[in-house]
Amino acid sequence: MPSIKSKHLIRIQDLTNDEIYAVLENAATFKEINERPIKKLPTLRGRTIINLFLEPSTRTRSSFELAEKRLSADSLNFSASSSATVKGESLLDTAETFDAMKVDMVVARHKYGGYCNILADHMDAKIVNGGDGIHQHPTQTLLDLFTIYEHFGRIEGLTVGIVGDIYHSRVAGSLAPALASLGATPIFIAPPAYQPDVPEELGAQVAYTLDEVLPELDVVNLLRIQGERAQGLYVPSLREYSALYGMNSHRMNNLMKKDAIILHPGPMNRGVEVTAEVIADPRMLVLDQVNAGVAVRMAVMYMMLGGDGDVE
Ligand code: CP
Repeated sequence: MPSIKSKHLIRIQDLTNDEIYAVLENAATFKEINERPIKKLPTLRGRTIINLFLEPSTRTRSSFELAEKRLSADSLNFSASSSATVKGESLLDTAETFDAMKVDMVVARHKYGGYCNILADHMDAKIVNGGDGIHQHPTQTLLDLFTIYEHFGRIEGLTVGIVGDIYHSRVAGSLAPALASLGATPIFIAPPAYQPDVPEELGAQVAYTLDEVLPELDVVNLLRIQGERAQGLYVPSLREYSALYGMNSHRMNNLMKKDAIILHPGPMNRGVEVTAEVIADPRMLVLDQVNAGVAVRMAVMYMMLGGDGDVE
């Protein structure tokens, strides 16, 4: 019996709060295993997983691939540029082709929000969303939650600022509702043009000035401006954006709580939303997030593909 009830993980809301905490607990075990000299487990031997990444990725794709290898699954990486899609085959026909090969799981990334739902409607395989357009990125949320929980020992009661281009952010689209559901307070901090249309639907409060709310935050989650999803900048200049919303030494040392942490989903744009000095500070946990990403994805696949007992 899979220990995640939903067949697919497309939205973070596909998981109950108890399932989220179970993922974090299993991920802690996988994180320990990832410190061992021999990191491979037989858990998903005989399972087939396709990584269908139709948008660029460094962290998500490579951590899923590592997680699959460490769980002994057979995995295949698919990129549009080296496939029959360049000969005109539709992505739906591609998906149905993979389904005919009897794969167990597809991890998909696509620039269109809702692409994973289309796959789920046309495939027998379980679908895991590796980031779809400006919609959601649920495994990023799970690794963010893992990093927060590992640091504070709790999520409930924390105030989490999500700073930057919220409008185009699938990270914000899945993190905010999860935080709200778990009893934390997410605040979207951005100029009006980068705020979502209906922030309250995502369970978030709104602020327009970083310096006003920074002293209240336990977690500062920085987002980059996602130029690939927009026509031009929504602010007068990157310099002005950086001056008003960028995390720098002054803000970190004078306005931020002493015990607050800084997160970033990556990739970072140094000198825009974050300076090199902040990246080098021990309160910046971006590499802890990357480390957690492998363990969290191992936990998700283990729990979705039948793992029910304790991880050894
Ligand atoms: N955070 C994240 O999704 O990074 P990649 O685009 O490198 O996968």
